[in-house]
Amino acid sequence: MVERGAEVILVTGGAGFIGSNFVLDWVEGGGRVVNLDKLTYAGNLENLASLEGNPAHTFVRGDIRDVGLVGRLLEEYRPRAVVHFAAESHVDRSIVGPEAFLQTNIDGTFSMLQAARGYYEGLVGAEREGFRFLHVSTDEVYGTLTPEAAAFHEETPYAPNSPYAASKAASDHLVRAWVHTYGLPAIVTNCSNNYGPYQFPEKLIPLMIANALAGKALPVYGDGQQVRDWLYVGDHASALRAVLERGRVGETYNVGGGNQRTNLEVVTTLCELLDELVPGSKFRPHKQLVTYVADRPGHDRRYAIDARKIEGELGWKAAESFETGLRKTVHWYLTNAAWVADVTSGAYQQWVTKNYDERSKVDAGEGTR
Ligand code: NAD
Ligand code: DAU
Repeated sequence: MVERGAEVILVTGGAGFIGSNFVLDWVEGGGRVVNLDKLTYAGNLENLASLEGNPAHTFVRGDIRDVGLVGRLLEEYRPRAVVHFAAESHVDRSIVGPEAFLQTNIDGTFSMLQAARGYYEGLVGAEREGFRFLHVSTDEVYGTLTPEAAAFHEETPYAPNSPYAASKAASDHLVRAWVHTYGLPAIVTNCSNNYGPYQFPEKLIPLMIANALAGKALPVYGDGQQVRDWLYVGDHASALRAVLERGRVGETYNVGGGNQRTNLEVVTTLCELLDELVPGSKFRPHKQLVTYVADRPGHDRRYAIDARKIEGELGWKAAESFETGLRKTVHWYLTNAAWVADVTSGAYQQWVTKNYDERSKVDAGEGTR
C-alpha cells in the first residue's frame, strides 16, 4: 500500500500533461515527489511553477534511458513507488517519426524496469513489502472497436495499430515479463483519452480551443465520426492513487470515464462553450471554423473503456462528467493564455506546419462546416 504521506515516490515524465497534474495532486495531499523528466517539447516546468521552493518536490532533468541515473535516484531517495508516465505520447508524431517512440517508450521502460529491479532486490522488510512500480499505459494497446463492440476490458487481446500504440503495448509486455520472471511488484493501468489543464495544444481538445480563440481552422480528421472515451485528468490522478493504495501486484486496471463522444461532437461542444464564454469574440459562432482535413493514416475508429474492475475492486469512480470537465478545461485555457503562448514555441509552429499544411483540406461534401 502506497499512500500520500511523508514517504517519497519517484515519478517519471512529471513535467508533462498527466504527470504534472498527478505531481501537483500528490504534493497537495501531503506527498513528496522526485520528478525525473527529460523536458522534451512536451515537458514544461511552468506546469509545476506553484511548487517552486517547495521541498516536497525535487526536479531532476534526465533521460529514463539512463539506467545509472535512475539507479542512483532510487538509492538516494529510496522511494516507496515509481510512477512511470514518461513517454512520447502523440499518435500523429509517431506516424511522422516513430524512432523516438521506440527509444523512449520501449528502451526507456526497459531501463526503468532494470533499475527498479536492482533497487527492489536490495530492499528488505516493510520497504520491500510496500514497493510498487506503476506503469501508466493507454487503451490504444487494444486497437480499435466497431460501433457495436463491447468496451475494452482487461482481458481484451492486444492489437495496437499505430507506432505509438505498438510501443506502449511493447512496454506493457515488458512490465508483465518483469513481474512474472523477476517478481517485480508492478501494476499496469490502461487509460482512455485524458483532457484538462496543461495539455499540450497538439492534442484534440487544447488544439481546438487554441485555434478557435485565434480564429484559425478547426482541423477535423476524416469524417469526424471517430469515437474516444474522455476522462478528466484529475480523475486519472485519483485512479492512480487508488491503484497505488489498493491495487494488486501483477494486475492491470482499465481506467475510463464512460464518456464516449465522436470527435465532431467534442469540437461542436467546444465551439458552443466558447460562444458562451467569449461572447465578444469576432469568430462567433466558432463552429464556422470547422474544416475537414485528410484523415490520420490507420486511424482507430473507436475506443471505449470498461472500468468495472477498478470501480468494483478499488472503489474508484470518475468525479467529473464530460460536461463539467470540459467547462473547467475551457475556463482553464481562457485564464491561462500566457501558458499556451509560452509552449507554442518555434518548434511547435514547425510541427503545426508539418502536420496540417501538408494535410490537404478535404471537401467532405460540405467542405468547411
Ligand atoms: P506528455 O507527452 O504530455 O508528457 C510526457 C512527458 O515525458 C514529458 O514531460 C516529457 O518531457 C517526458 N519525457 C519524454 N521522453 C522522456 C525521456 N526519454 N526521459 C524522461 N522524460 C521523458 O504525455 P501525457 O499525455 O502526459 O502522457 C503521460 C503518460 O500517460 C504516457 O505514458 C501516455 O502513454 C499515458 N497516457 C496518456 C493519455 C492521454 O490521453 N494523454 C491517456 C492514457 C495514457
Ligand atoms: O486513448 C488514449 C490516448 O489518447 C493516449 O494514449 C495518447 O497519448 C493521447 O494522445 C490520445 O490519443 P488520440 O490519438 O486519441 O488523441 P488526439 O488528441 O491526438 O486525437 C483525438 C481524436 O481527434 C483522434 O480521433 C484524432 C482526432 N484529431 C486529432 C487532432 C490533433 C482530429 O480530428 N484533428 C486533430 O487536429
